[in-house]
Amino acid sequence: INIEEFQHDLVQWFQEEQRDLPWRKDNDPYKVWVSEVMLQQTRVDTVIPYYNRFLERFPSIEAFAEADEEAVLKMWEGLGYYSRVRNLHAAAKEVVNKYGGKVPDTKEKILKLKGVGPYTAGAVLSIAFGKPIPAVDGNVMRVLSRILLITEDIAKTSARKVFEEAAQELMYVPSPSHFNQALMELGALICTPGKPACLLCPVREHCRAFAEGVQAELPVKTRK
Ligand code: ADE
Repeated sequence: INIEEFQHDLVQWFQEEQRDLPWRKDNDPYKVWVSEVMLQQTRVDTVIPYYNRFLERFPSIEAFAEADEEAVLKMWEGLGYYSRVRNLHAAAKEVVNKYGGKVPDTKEKILKLKGVGPYTAGAVLSIAFGKPIPAVDGNVMRVLSRILLITEDIAKTSARKVFEEAAQELMYVPSPSHFNQALMELGALICTPGKPACLLCPVREHCRAFAEGVQAELPVKTRK
C-alpha cells in the first residue's frame, strides 16, 4: 500500500462526501464525547434527535454535571444501554470537579474516566484535540481488515491491538480527525458488512481484499 496516496484519497473523499451530521458542526470535546457515547451502540439516524435534544437541555459540561440523575436519564430514554449515560454523567462530574470542566487531552487521563475505553478516547482525542490516536470500532476493523487483508478474528479481545497498530501505521497526522472519521464514514456508507460497494469506493485501488476479490469474506469473525 502507498500510504500517502491512500490517506489523500480517503481524506479527500471524506471532505467531499461526508454526511452533514450535527456533531460535525463543532469540535467541542464535551459534544464530541456525548456523540461518540450515543453512537457506540445506537445507529446514526436514531442518535441525531437525541443528540440535539441532549445538548439543548445540557449545553455545557457544567450544566450536564450539575443536573439530577433523573433529568439525565429522561434525556436518554429510548436510547437504551443506560449504563452509558450513568457513566457519562459520573465522568462529566469528575471532569468539572477535578479538571475545571476541561476534558483531559491525554490518553492516560481520559482513559481513567468512567465509561471511556480506547475507542471513545481515540475519537475524542482525535476529533476534538487533533491528536494522532486511532479510534477503532467494529466498522473501522471491517474497513482495515479489507484494505490490509487482516485475517485476525475480530471476535477475539486481542484483535483490537492488531487493528489499532494498523490504524496507527496509516494515520494521517496532519488531520487525525478527518482520518478517523473518514474510516468510520467509509465503513458506514461504502465498506459495509456483507457485500460492500467497492465500485464506489475512493480507496479501492489501495484495497488488498478488493484486489483478491475477498471483500465479502472479511472481516473474519467467529463466535467467541
Ligand atoms: N459512529 C461512531 N462515531 C461516529 C461519527 N463521529 N460519525 C458518524 N458515525 C459514527
